[in-house]
Amino acid sequence: MDDLDLFGLDDLGTDDEDFFNDDDEKVKKDDDLSLFSEEEDDSISHDLYSKLDDIEVNLRPKTFDDYIGQETFVKSLKIYINGALQRHEALDHVLLYGPPGLGKTTLSNIIANELHVNIRIVNGPSLTRTGDLAAILSALEAGDVLFIDEIHRIPIKVEEVLYGAMEDFKLSIVVGRDEEARTVNIPIAPFTLIGATTRQSDLSSPLRDRFGIVSKFEYYTVSELEKIIRRTSKVFQMEIDDEAILMIAKRSRGTPRIANRIYRRVRDFASYSNKDRIDCEVCSIALNSLGIDEYGLDNTDRDYLKCLILRFHGAPVGVQSIAAAIGEEPNNVMEVYEPYLIQVGLIDRTKRGRVATKLAYDHLGIPYPKIED
Ligand code: ADE
Repeated sequence: MDDLDLFGLDDLGTDDEDFFNDDDEKVKKDDDLSLFSEEEDDSISHDLYSKLDDIEVNLRPKTFDDYIGQETFVKSLKIYINGALQRHEALDHVLLYGPPGLGKTTLSNIIANELHVNIRIVNGPSLTRTGDLAAILSALEAGDVLFIDEIHRIPIKVEEVLYGAMEDFKLSIVVGRDEEARTVNIPIAPFTLIGATTRQSDLSSPLRDRFGIVSKFEYYTVSELEKIIRRTSKVFQMEIDDEAILMIAKRSRGTPRIANRIYRRVRDFASYSNKDRIDCEVCSIALNSLGIDEYGLDNTDRDYLKCLILRFHGAPVGVQSIAAAIGEEPNNVMEVYEPYLIQVGLIDRTKRGRVATKLAYDHLGIPYPKIED
C-alpha cells in the first residue's frame, strides 16, 4: 500500500466500549429477543468487534428465513430442530465455535425461537460459583435453551456441575463437609445447552464430548455480506448504491458485525454531507477516514504486520512478543486479529512463530527480502 500515512489515522470509533454487559437475562419466546446485548466478545478490545447497541441488535434476524450464511450448518440444524419438535424432546446440546462477530448469539436466539422455548443467556466467566449455575439450571423449563457464551472460561468446579446436568439432567451437589460430605442428586428439566466459544481447543474433553451437535462458524463470503448490508440499509432506511455495498462487503473481514458497523459509520458520513443515499464516493471517504484498507485491515492489523516485518525483520515471532509490541492482549491477538490475517494469507503460523507472507510485504509496500541460497 502506498499511503503509509493512513496508519496514523484515528482508529475506528471508540464509542462502544461500555456496551459490555454481563447481565444474565431470560426471555420468553414471544418477548423481544433483540433486548440482549451481544455476549460473544467481552474480552475483546478491537473496536470493530465491540458490543452492539440496541439499534444494531434490532438488526438481528429472528428466524431462519432471515438468517444469511452458515448454510450447511443451518440446513442440518433445521433437521435436528424438526426432529426434536416431533419427538417433543429437548434439542441435543450444541457447541458453536469460531471468531467473534459471526453470529453465534444470533443463531442461538433463532434456535430458541424456532423451538418455541425460552432462552437464558449467561456469560461463562460470570458463573463463578457452582450455586449460580445450579440456580439457573433448576429454573429452566422443559426444552429451554441455556446459552453460555465464552464457555471455555467457566471455572472447572462449575464445569463439573454441567457434566451431570447435560448428560442425565440432574444436579449433583456436595453437601456437608469432611466425613459428613455427601452428594445429593436433584433432577432438573431436560434442556439444551448451547455453548459458544472462540477457542474450541481450550475446552476440556469431558465437556466437549457432551455436545451432540458441534459447528465451526465460517467467515462470510462477500456475496453473503452484500445481502446483510442490503438488509441493514432497509432497517436503517438509508439507501445505498450496489458499488458501495460491494465496497463495504469486501472490507468487512468476512464478519457481519463489522459490515453493519461500517455501514453505520458510512451512513454518518453521508448524513454529514447532506446526502440521502450512500454512494461510492462517500463510502470511500468514510472508509479512508476510518483507516480501513482494501483488505479490511485497520491500524492494529497493520501495526501487527509492520511489527513482524520491520521490528522483528521477518523472523518468526511468538504471540506474546507481538502482543507486547503492539499493546494488545495475547488472547485478543490470537482470537481476533490472527484468524483473519491467516485466512487472507497475510501471515503464516509456524512452529517457530508467526511470519508475514510476501502478500503482507506487497500490501504494505515493503520490498520482500530475497532469500539467499
Ligand atoms: N445480521 C447480522 N448477521 C446476520 C445474518 N447472519 N443474517 C442476516 N442478518 C444478519
